[in-house]
Amino acid sequence: MTDAGFGARILELADRLAEISESPDALTVTYLTPAHRAVAAKFREWMQAAGMSVETDALANLTGRYAGTDPRAKTLILASHYDTVVNAGKYDGRLGLLTPLVIIEHLHRSGKKLPFNIELIAFSEEEGQRFPAAFIGSAALTGKFDPALLETRDAAGLRLGDVMRETGLDPGEIPTLTRRGDDLLGYLEVHIEQGPVLLNEGLPVGVVTSITGPLRYEVTITGEAGHAGTVPMALRRDAATAAAEMLLAIDQRCRAVPGLVGTVGKLGVPGGTINIIPGRCEFSIDIRAPDDAVRDVAGADIVAEIERIAGRRKVRVETKEILRMASVRCTPAVQQLFSDAIVRAGIKPYRLASGAGHDAMMFDGITDLGMLFVRCGNGGVSHNPRETITAEDADLGARILLDVITNFPAA
Ligand code: GLV
Ligand code: MN
Ligand code: MN
Repeated sequence: MTDAGFGARILELADRLAEISESPDALTVTYLTPAHRAVAAKFREWMQAAGMSVETDALANLTGRYAGTDPRAKTLILASHYDTVVNAGKYDGRLGLLTPLVIIEHLHRSGKKLPFNIELIAFSEEEGQRFPAAFIGSAALTGKFDPALLETRDAAGLRLGDVMRETGLDPGEIPTLTRRGDDLLGYLEVHIEQGPVLLNEGLPVGVVTSITGPLRYEVTITGEAGHAGTVPMALRRDAATAAAEMLLAIDQRCRAVPGLVGTVGKLGVPGGTINIIPGRCEFSIDIRAPDDAVRDVAGADIVAEIERIAGRRKVRVETKEILRMASVRCTPAVQQLFSDAIVRAGIKPYRLASGAGHDAMMFDGITDLGMLFVRCGNGGVSHNPRETITAEDADLGARILLDVITNFPAA
């Protein structure tokens, strides 16, 4: 494979994975849907063809093992996720699977083995789209899976535990999946930047310094349904107008602090219709900041403000925290390995923080971890079908990852 070939192949394989979707006119692959199973089957074939032995675990993670010269040596994990958001781009998660895939393909074809084992792990769930939980795949491998999640339900009312069993997965095996740090050399993840920083710097790649942790809530407001034509405005207990006021309060609170961001990405009036005053409204909140303390204070303020608004509007509100992850620092020595490889490729080594969450975070405290960001085109847009990357940048990302693993300390 020529150097330029890595990038072209990554883009071609990303296009092929993106042909599989649960909706005909958008790329959507959420946990344990038939499309999700089909993506896993396709990726499994590709891993096997690249010389890996592949196992599927109880969460539908795929682990492809490329044995080193001494199979008893430690293992370097290269990983990311294969699920997508609703109406996704083609590279979020998948770039971090296809980049190691083409490198292992290259090593296999050249008959080259490393002094340690490599595992390419395709995590089954990172995005938190179908069930009110994210990082389901990587949580299980790092001993952070909360069994209470098995009781959570998707929008159709299906329990996660039941969906797993119907798919042939055994939740009872989850506790056996935890990886031991002693067996690992480190964890590396390549990811599209999902923002405009590298684009604005004119740089194709960057070294990730830290990963911001999300704080998430689900909010349910209960008012009183009523006739749209007969109930005077002053007598209404409208759940949706209460939500509208809450959304603006979240927006204002987050705008006031540089770096603090708050998003209401899900908002709905269940069973709502044109001539009924909304009796119920549900929405999600995702709050992030470079500093966990700033985020946590904002979260507490927002919950208090939501309760004040509910009281004033005479509706009931339940605010349920569903995720609070601490931000994570990438291991300085691994940052340096990426930086050195970038310099060897003749590029300025640039370091940046990640505002998005990544599976890498789950390995904090378990093994050394590092991430490489690859430039995102179209102004840096992601979680959007306009997310894009060039073959040249994907190629460079692959060459840098190959350099890093070739120079990775074997002990
Ligand atoms: C994952 O994409 C996240 O940061 O929400
Ligand atoms: Mn994502
Ligand atoms: Mn991602």
